[in-house]
Amino acid sequence: MHSPALSFSSLALCLLHAYATPHRPTLDIPPSNATVSISRFITANLTAVKELHTLVQPILPGRDTLTLPIYSFLVQHGSRKLLFDAGIRKDPLNLAPSLATLFTNGQFSPAAMDKDIFDVLKEAGIASSSIETVIWSHLHFDHIGDMSKFPNSTSLVIGSATDTSTYPSNPNASLLESDLAGRNVIRIDFAKSTLKINDLQAVDYFGDGSFYLVNTPGHVPGHLTALARVTANPPSFILLAGDTFHHPGQARPRPSLQANFPCPAHLVAGAGKHVSTDYFFSSGSHDGAFDIQSRAEPLLRIADGADSFWADPVVAAVSLEKVARWDAADNVLVLIAHDLTLVANLTGLSQNSGLSGLPYHPRTLNGWKKEGWKRNTVWNFIDYEGPAWIFSPLG
Ligand SMILES: *[C@@H]1O[C@H](CO)[C@@H](O)[C@H](O)[C@H]1NC(C)=O
Ligand SMILES: *[C@@H]1O[C@H](CO)[C@@H](O)[C@H](O)[C@H]1NC(C)=O
Ligand SMILES: *[C@@H]1O[C@H](CO)[C@@H](O)[C@H](O)[C@H]1NC(C)=O
Ligand SMILES: *[C@@H]1O[C@H](CO)[C@@H](O)[C@H](O)[C@H]1NC(C)=O
Ligand SMILES: *[C@@H]1O[C@H](CO)[C@@H](O)[C@H](O)[C@H]1NC(C)=O
Ligand SMILES: [Zn+2]
Repeated sequence: MHSPALSFSSLALCLLHAYATPHRPTLDIPPSNATVSISRFITANLTAVKELHTLVQPILPGRDTLTLPIYSFLVQHGSRKLLFDAGIRKDPLNLAPSLATLFTNGQFSPAAMDKDIFDVLKEAGIASSSIETVIWSHLHFDHIGDMSKFPNSTSLVIGSATDTSTYPSNPNASLLESDLAGRNVIRIDFAKSTLKINDLQAVDYFGDGSFYLVNTPGHVPGHLTALARVTANPPSFILLAGDTFHHPGQARPRPSLQANFPCPAHLVAGAGKHVSTDYFFSSGSHDGAFDIQSRAEPLLRIADGADSFWADPVVAAVSLEKVARWDAADNVLVLIAHDLTLVANLTGLSQNSGLSGLPYHPRTLNGWKKEGWKRNTVWNFIDYEGPAWIFSPLG
């Protein structure tokens, strides 16, 4: 009776062995020695109150609420400064009516929005007039900020498929006239570019190989990400991944991630005890003991139910699959816009492993590889004691 199970696990072992040598996908990134510097701000936390199922599946009983920190990234190219995403405005009730309702009806709690990107820039001593360009990964309310607070000299970069209709001419619009008024709006036309990186259309933003905008459709039309070269020799990168996923478990684990960054033993043991085998399968799991090491695909998927927050879950899943190849690579750090496991000074993990989140501005993230920051954070999501744990029913 046991032999079929045994041959399944030996197959799994063979598959694991095939991945045992450090694995790096063909990144197809053209060579360059030009780099940018990346640092990160947190502007606020958004709490998805009983709405996590619109982003993530499966949702286990009692696990439908999650805190989503909102990060913005400062990109510095010599003296030129860009922002990748502008967070959320402090007064979400003044969003376009189609979005303000998300706050009045309680789907999102507007708690802890006492600061916006202008406040954190000011605290950092950065004049908003020194921001040459704001790049929106997409037009959702937690990424567009309040552009009317930027001087008109700050330009706006958006993906070509972005819907720039505004309220009130379009009563359902996500944008207000003040989001675009008086500003140079630059649409990135990926269809015109012949460059492909990791099988994704890309544009070399500065023309020197330091910073690529990458077409990652699916979340909403026009969703884009940015690949920054942060060290030249050896080359290492940061992918500003926007909302290609919302919970790290939508990209992890993958066999190549396990090969490059083996799951720490205490988290393998913790997952064995706590991940519910009623909801999650892996070939090496037995008798209610979950085996994370033989899990062949990410634990979570993109929500594709009727009330999904994703415009096109099928297209989004393809973008996510490609981004997750980067997430597994040893020389790319993938930073989504709302990763709760990466807040600075993250506490509550089951074992203190030194740095457990990532620092904010003014520290740059460029040295992540040398500092071992990916190794120290990439498995935080599967920590039973950690804040992003959603892998067993609650109570
Ligand atoms: C980068 O710099 C190295 C060392 O100076 C040089 O050998 C190489 O040709 C440069 N690569 C590019 C693409 O400029
Ligand atoms: C957001 O939540 C995180 C995690 O609980 C916390 O560390 C951080 O201070 C909060 N930040 C804000 C701006 O509320
Ligand atoms: C606005 O959305 C509603 C509900 O989805 C729809 O019935 C209506 O046709 C939309 N109006 C416009 C102008 O798109
Ligand atoms: C910015 O543009 C808006 C809309 O066109 C205009 O009303 C405003 O005067 C402009 N501000 C400056 C400082 O040019
Ligand atoms: C995180 O901890 C460091 C070192 O103790 C401290 O300097 C920094 O202010 C902390 N950051 C936040 C956001 O609490
Ligand atoms: Zn978002």
